[in-house]
Amino acid sequence: MHYWGTMKTDEKHSPTHHCACHHEDGQCQGNHEHGTTINRRRFLAVGSGCVLGALAGSSSAADSKAQLVDIGALSRFSEEGISEEFTKDNFFVIRYQDRLFAASTTCPHMGNPLQRDPQDVKRITCGIHGSVFDGEGVATVGPASSGLIRLGITVNKEGHVMVNPVKEFPQDKWTDKACYVEVK
Ligand code: FES
Repeated sequence: MHYWGTMKTDEKHSPTHHCACHHEDGQCQGNHEHGTTINRRRFLAVGSGCVLGALAGSSSAADSKAQLVDIGALSRFSEEGISEEFTKDNFFVIRYQDRLFAASTTCPHMGNPLQRDPQDVKRITCGIHGSVFDGEGVATVGPASSGLIRLGITVNKEGHVMVNPVKEFPQDKWTDKACYVEVK
């Protein structure tokens, strides 16, 4: 199945997954709206108690299951490409060669929102200063001098890919196995 379109109904993730503070009991106690597109920096700035509390905690808190976003079964990601399906959660899902990863929609230059290039869906652009990132997330046109920030990613025992939006990996950490999933 080509996964860059809409998810199949039976694979739809819960609306609560739009919230980075999804609690185990399914009830968010935060004061932010769910399902809205919100720039990550602004999201942090408005002070969601749930996320700020998690960031203030230990690294084990950053690994907390409560913060993970379920992006569906690994089998969905069978083709190379850049998906904007989860930009509402502030990340792209990228399959590049035999690796699948999530990359922040926040520009590594000065933090503006990024978009998949409508003229070339194999690259990502920043509309503010014109940086361009290739299909692997490497900056090919400045002023950005480093690649996209990747996020924590893993596959759970049900075979679903889970993204941790608060665990960040700059380009010099891209070899860390916690920020990609091997796809054969
Ligand atoms: S903020 Fe993206 S290139 Fe400057």
